[in-house]
Amino acid sequence: MSMLILLPIALAVSTVTAWGDLGHETVGYFLAPNALAFVKATISSSDDNSLGPAAIWADEVKYDDGWEWSQPLHFVDAEDSPLDGSCSVEQTRDCGDGQCILIAIANYTTQVSDSSLSSTQIQDALKFIVQFLGDIGQPLHVEAYEVGGNDISAKCSGESTNLHAAWDTGMVEKNIDDNHGGSSETYADDLVTEIKSGSYKSLTSSWLSCTSITEPVSNSKRAPGADLEDEIKNLLQDRATEKITPLECPLVWAQEANAFDCTVVFNYTKGEDLCTSSYYSNAVPVIDLQLAKQGYRLAAWLNVIFDGSTNLP
Ligand SMILES: *[C@@H]1O[C@H](CO)[C@@H](O)[C@H](O)[C@H]1NC(C)=O
Ligand SMILES: *[C@@H]1O[C@H](CO)[C@@H](O)[C@H](O)[C@H]1NC(C)=O
Ligand SMILES: [Zn+2]
Repeated sequence: MSMLILLPIALAVSTVTAWGDLGHETVGYFLAPNALAFVKATISSSDDNSLGPAAIWADEVKYDDGWEWSQPLHFVDAEDSPLDGSCSVEQTRDCGDGQCILIAIANYTTQVSDSSLSSTQIQDALKFIVQFLGDIGQPLHVEAYEVGGNDISAKCSGESTNLHAAWDTGMVEKNIDDNHGGSSETYADDLVTEIKSGSYKSLTSSWLSCTSITEPVSNSKRAPGADLEDEIKNLLQDRATEKITPLECPLVWAQEANAFDCTVVFNYTKGEDLCTSSYYSNAVPVIDLQLAKQGYRLAAWLNVIFDGSTNLP
C-alpha cells in the first residue's frame, strides 16, 4: 500500500532534475518568434523559458505499453573501446538498423512541421526532439559499453546506483544542490548567463557548426549555423520522398559527447563514491557544458525549422 503511494513521489523527485528534462531548460531564452509561438501553442508549460512537462514525456512513455519501440531511439550504441582510449561514433556501425537517436532526430524533424499529421503526432514529434537533443549530449547515451554504463554499479553520495544513472540524475542533482540553490530554474538561468556573457560566450558559434570536431572551426569559412540550416532545409525538402537521410549535425554532436567517455566518464577507481570525489569535480564542468550546449542547439534547431535560420549569434 505505502509502495503505491510512495512510488510516484519518488519518480517525480528523481525525474525533476534528470538529464532528459534539463537538456531543454535553457531553450526558451533563445527561441525565435515563430518557434516560440509554435512551442507555446503545441505544449502547455507553466514556465515560458522551459518546455516543462513536455521534456519528461518521452522518458516516461518509453516504459508504457505500446511505446517500447521508442526506447532505442534515446541513444546510439557506439561500439568503441573507451577503456582503451578509443572513442568514436559511426553511423553505419552503430546505427545500421536506423533505430537510434541519430535517425530519430531526423525522423521527428520531418514530422514536427508536417501539417498533414494530426496535432497529437506533431506534439509527440516536438516532445521527442526536445528529449533527443538533450540525450545526445549525455556521454553514456552515445556509448554501448556495459549498456551505456547501466550495468556498472556505482555509488553516489553513499547510495547505490549505476554509472549511467549517476550521469542522468545523481551528479546532476548534486550539482544543482551544491552550485545552483537546489533549483533547476536557477541552474538554467546560470547556464544562460554563461552563454550570453560568461565563459561559454566565445564558444557558441562553434556549437552551431557541424563540421567534424577534428577540424578547427577557424578553417571553416561558413557562417556559424550555416551547416545546420542547410541540413535541416534539405531534410525538410526531401520529406515528400519519405526518405530519411542521416544528418551530420547529430552525428558530430554524438561524437563530441562520446569523446568524454575516453576522458572523464570511465576515469574512476573501483568502489569510489562518484559524487564525493574528484570524479565529481571533473564531471561537473562536462555536465554544465553539455547541458548548456544542447539547450542552445535545441533552440537553433527549432528556429531553423520554424523561422528559417538559427537566429542566434
Ligand atoms: C519515426 O517515427 C515514427 C512515428 O512515431 C515511428 O513509428 C518510428 O519508429 C520512428 N523511427 C525512428 C528511427 O525514429
Ligand atoms: C582522471 O582522474 C584523475 C584522478 O582524479 C585526475 O587526476 C585526472 O585529471 C582525470 N582525468 C581527466 C581527463 O579528467
Ligand atoms: Zn539515460
